[in-house]
Amino acid sequence: MLSRKIASQLKGIETPFYLYDINLLRQTLESVVYESNKYNYKVHYAIKANNDDYLLSIIKEYGIGIDCASGNEVRKAIESGFEPKSIVYAGVGKRDKEIRYAIEQNILAINCESIEELQVVNTIAAELGKKADIGLRINPDIDPKTNRCIDTGQADSKFGISYEEIMENIEWIKSLENINIIGIHIHIGSQIRELHVFENMCNKANAIVENLESLGFKFRIVDVGGGLGINYDVPENEPIPNFASLFAIIREYLNVGDKEVHFEFGRALVGECGELITSVLYNKTTATGRRLLIVDASMTELIRPMLYGSYHNIENITSEEESFKKYTVVGTACESTDVFDENVSLRKSKRGDLLTIKSAGAYGSSMASQYNMHDLPKAVYSDQINGN
Ligand code: LLP
Repeated sequence: MLSRKIASQLKGIETPFYLYDINLLRQTLESVVYESNKYNYKVHYAIKANNDDYLLSIIKEYGIGIDCASGNEVRKAIESGFEPKSIVYAGVGKRDKEIRYAIEQNILAINCESIEELQVVNTIAAELGKKADIGLRINPDIDPKTNRCIDTGQADSKFGISYEEIMENIEWIKSLENINIIGIHIHIGSQIRELHVFENMCNKANAIVENLESLGFKFRIVDVGGGLGINYDVPENEPIPNFASLFAIIREYLNVGDKEVHFEFGRALVGECGELITSVLYNKTTATGRRLLIVDASMTELIRPMLYGSYHNIENITSEEESFKKYTVVGTACESTDVFDENVSLRKSKRGDLLTIKSAGAYGSSMASQYNMHDLPKAVYSDQINGN
């Protein structure tokens, strides 16, 4: 972890802040580009994971496209200089103005998530005198073996169109004159560490593509979404996710001929390069004997532990104490659930020590809020700091 190496240079910077390791980001991007080029796979970055301007400018250098979840994300991608034809847009609840904007911008694909949405996109495209390029986001009913809060492709999920509903409406979908159905889209969930679930996804995708093409569709793109997980437990062991293994599985199991295969990685690209740096404010012990370490960050900077029970490894990077103690690390927000973790073994910690909350580059700052009128978190980039 970068913060441990440069802890002395971080003292004096007002906390809390996100520290981004730009070298690690670049190495991660180099890895995904190198591995995906082996198979001519196309990679998009899921901008919802982190929409920081500087990170986006670096990601753009690597020729990666963007996956969006709202009209404002599409706008951000375009304003950040990404080619419209490298932008895809999924989302269960696209509003009319968002659809209109995406069509006007000629993005690569609007990934539609309901039959009714197809109708609305068709109508808006007709009003604009255009034909919109569409992906059918299909719910493949796959268990991604991840945290239930972040799985998206099981039969009961709100995401995607069920295969049954597509079959019921096949002729009607084909009759829509202002949309071009250029591909299918599947995204089964996030923080997937058991890569064999992608085999099941490929098997489903093969059958869906084959059946739909036999019924008259002709697809150019198969977008298999994102979801590759990172190592939250011991990030030092795996700073760059194993893109090679995932791509090898897709290569082996996805049989869709010469169609373009697209990916949409969020966490895998930016998760490990970000840390949340926070200062210890106070120590206290509850009447029940629980030792609390109160830090100056809170759920307003990083809500993942409170929202999903997600684990982030925490370390005291400035304490020189030899002894370790167990702490419950809590934030400043006026909420009882504002707890980063319990029973954390840390070097004996005192007011003013710096802690790092690791692997916070994805879904950290982008999910920040201003509850309690907190400021939005600031960012510090390693290449602004001497020698990094
Ligand atoms: N594509 C689609 C359609 C998605 O919905 C998502 C994430 C991605 C790609 C990128 O997934 P990734 O590669 O990052 O796993 N806030 C939660 C994660 C929510 C993911 C939402 N969709 C968290 O902090 O764990």
